[in-house]
Amino acid sequence: MNKLEQYIKENGKVINGEILKVDTFLNHQVDPALMKEIGENFYNYFKKYPINKVVTIETSGIAPALMCAACFGVPMVFIKKAVPSTMSDAYHAEVFSFTKNKTYHISVSKEFLSENDHILFIDDFLANGEAFLGVENICKEAKATIEGVGIVIDKAFQKGHQKIIDKGYDLCSLAQIAALDENGVHFLKEQ
Ligand code: G4P
Repeated sequence: MNKLEQYIKENGKVINGEILKVDTFLNHQVDPALMKEIGENFYNYFKKYPINKVVTIETSGIAPALMCAACFGVPMVFIKKAVPSTMSDAYHAEVFSFTKNKTYHISVSKEFLSENDHILFIDDFLANGEAFLGVENICKEAKATIEGVGIVIDKAFQKGHQKIIDKGYDLCSLAQIAALDENGVHFLKEQ
């Protein structure tokens, strides 16, 4: 997606050669027009599947997931990182974050995920794919079908990209980063 790559080139900041800071349009301040286009791009790619729910993990996946769900005309469900006291019956999984070097807990109410669901998973970043593995475990437990995985920024030089492909999922990444270094961002498919 050209426009997204342009945003990343103009606004992204490389930190430690491994982390890309995109606080101006995705991770803190959010650009609604860009999110709308991102949602439309995912819709155009995945519309061949019988998707009835778009799923993400809070927080930064919510904006692109919501825009995509609006295109499909289906609900968006965000998996929570804390267990609210009001959530009594839920699916749970553990996720290890290499970026943050800690394990966190994710959960979703059984009310919102079932064997009747055909899921499109959307997330803002793909690094090592650990968040996706947690979501996959939850979907397996709920007997829901994952029809595809949509990623806004895929750090293809880390392990997540290949992990998801090797598992046979249809992966659509709107920006694929080959490397981050002192010269900036290098995309896998320079356009
Ligand atoms: P993984 O799921 O692919 O293994 O990624 P990892 O656990 O390493 O990532 C943990 C958190 O860091 C995730 O956000 C992920 O989106 C984010 N992240 C990973 N690489 C980058 C990066 O290069 N830049 C930025 N800005 N974020 C990155 P999170 O903690 O769940 O945050 P949020 O969604 O609550 O905002």
